Amino acid sequence: MRFDVLTLFPAMLEGFLAESMVGKSIQRGIVEAAVHNLRDWTTDKHQITDDRPFGGGAGMVMKPEPIFSAIEELRSEQSTVIYLAPDGEQLSHSLVMELAAKPHLILLSGHYEGIDERVRENLIDREISIGDYVLTNGTLPAAVLIDAVARQLPGVLGEAQSLEQDSFSDGLLGLPQYTRPAEFRGMKIPEVLLSGNHAKIEAWRQEQRRARTAKRRPDLL
Ligand SMILES: C[S@@+](CC[C@H](N)C(=O)[O-])C[C@H]1O[C@@H](n2cnc3c(N)ncnc32)[C@H](O)[C@@H]1O
Repeated sequence: MRFDVLTLFPAMLEGFLAESMVGKSIQRGIVEAAVHNLRDWTTDKHQITDDRPFGGGAGMVMKPEPIFSAIEELRSEQSTVIYLAPDGEQLSHSLVMELAAKPHLILLSGHYEGIDERVRENLIDREISIGDYVLTNGTLPAAVLIDAVARQLPGVLGEAQSLEQDSFSDGLLGLPQYTRPAEFRGMKIPEVLLSGNHAKIEAWRQEQRRARTAKRRPDLL
């Protein structure tokens, strides 16, 4: 699967794409990721990407020309072009799974007051928000989306982590986890986890997941 990110701040993604599971999946060739500076598609001496809004008002708006040029160069019939936007549809587990089945995502990060509406109307296939709050630009939202999607691809997590009991994977939240030592500062782990009885442990885990979901996210049940 391939990701192309269009941003004014490519350096923000350097560490993210080199580290952890996403970094490993790129090294293994499961994921391809390229980060592009939108200024590379400007044609003026000062590489200007923003201008004042028509009609007045505070702030600046990202100009359409470099964005059109960049997307027209990068996209193919296989591509889904996504604008990260606070007023887009909210990223969720089901949307992540849908995106993980796509071969190529182009992720456009906005800045300032956002982008010229003609880009949204004519070039964008999906608009996605990572939550009901506003960030200064869409580069971190692009990273969030890549991370969430990449970890669903076969071979990315390896055996060290499983997707099955992740929160939201089957509509429930995740389970309480414990590791060694079995007793720490007088705090003991639940007896059942030391029982060696796999059926009992599994039943306990499912019960814990249901109870946690009922308490914290009853809307999921
Ligand atoms: C300061 S925001 C613009 C906010 C815009 N004026 C509004 O009120 O919707 C600048 C850019 O950050 C990104 N952004 C900010 N918050 C976001 C969120 N919650 N989800 C996705 N992208 C976000 C978008 O790409 C946006 O164009």
